[in-house]
Amino acid sequence: MSTTLQYSQPSLRGDITVPGDKSVSHRSVMFGSIAEGKTTVSGFLLGEDCLRTIDCFQKLRVDIEVNGTDVTINSPGIDGWTEPKEVLYTGNSGTTTRLMLGLLSGTKLHTIMTGDASIGKRPMRRVADPLRLMGAQIAGRDNGQYTPLAIQGGPLKAIDYKMPVASAQVKSAILLAGIRAEGTTVVREEEISRDHTERMLRQFGATVTVEDGVVSLQGGQTLTGTHVNVPGDISSAAFFLVAGAIAKNSRIVLKNVGINETRDGILEVLQKMGAKMSVAIDDENAAEPTATITIETSDLKGTTVEGAIIPRLIDEIPIIALLATQAAGKTIIKDAEELKVKETNRIDAVVNELKKLGANIEATDDGMVIEGPTPLHGGSLRTYGDHRIGMMGAIAALIADGEVELDDADCIAVSYPTFFDHINNILK
Ligand code: S3P
Repeated sequence: MSTTLQYSQPSLRGDITVPGDKSVSHRSVMFGSIAEGKTTVSGFLLGEDCLRTIDCFQKLRVDIEVNGTDVTINSPGIDGWTEPKEVLYTGNSGTTTRLMLGLLSGTKLHTIMTGDASIGKRPMRRVADPLRLMGAQIAGRDNGQYTPLAIQGGPLKAIDYKMPVASAQVKSAILLAGIRAEGTTVVREEEISRDHTERMLRQFGATVTVEDGVVSLQGGQTLTGTHVNVPGDISSAAFFLVAGAIAKNSRIVLKNVGINETRDGILEVLQKMGAKMSVAIDDENAAEPTATITIETSDLKGTTVEGAIIPRLIDEIPIIALLATQAAGKTIIKDAEELKVKETNRIDAVVNELKKLGANIEATDDGMVIEGPTPLHGGSLRTYGDHRIGMMGAIAALIADGEVELDDADCIAVSYPTFFDHINNILK
């Protein structure tokens, strides 16, 4: 069902407490299910992706209770998981599918995993191949490239693996398998991807060393249940950081934003583009530090986004592209070919949809080039079932002259179910 958004170019003013981080929420349930005993989680994201992760572990007969954004996990530990009679359904979630692949490879169970149409097109061999080097038995379409995937768990041995792409999902799948493997698993990253798995391994009592992009983990370690406090998702906050910077006469205060340095590339880009923004850190020493970020209407200039910063803002590129349409001069985004294998091809989706609103934007092989500032007008947009394309369209509607129609706004619930409530709360 399509949704029509007509906002008449409002000011945006007020506070938003950003919902839980998607990456950390997934991992909290996974680690709580690996650990024997009780784990409690606060600030869990009730997005569809993370609920899929809970559902998968419930099918493995892990006891998980959800009470608002608090989650309690009582697990018998990996060896106590029950072989499921049903298929594990991962929906739209790449993180669930890829990390579970690593985890399930080292069990004694036979499992089958599948997801929605988007998951069915996303590459899984980037995970299956290194797992096979560890001894995993994985079968699927095109030699394990695509779901449905069948996994026959068994004994694993450690590998020393040089990452061919910057991907925390690949790194994490290998590390999760590494917990069960004989020997020391080593993952070498040329460009550092998000490190939530490494941080959470430590929170659950495991020893993991990280030095110059080399992560090492001794197999056979047991994890101990603990409390996980999920920070707000900077990838969700990003939509409002951009909204505050580009809407007229606006000031938005975003609370509880996770500022893990492997995720905070958007803040660097906003600063470089001249955004009026301040960051007040809550507790630097938390496992996942958070901050209150204030953003105001800003005079923006174009910039180049490339190289090592790309993994630190990969999910924010759709909204950075919208930001760039309102900045003076040229913005170049490159080294971002990973965008082609996200929930949809995000280079094509961003360029096609922003063009419909009048943006001056062209696709390149590994990114896009945007020339601004351009006033945006209304139009009918496709989300491609991709939550971040949907939210980019909705934020564009806030500054557009005219109605913006989204073909499927429901997909936004994948990562930000309260997104439209939060917009409505700050409209002035
Ligand atoms: C994620 C890693 C990133 C990111 C995704 C979440 C994670 O994917 O885009 O939204 O939780 O590990 P890649 O590993 O494919 O880069």
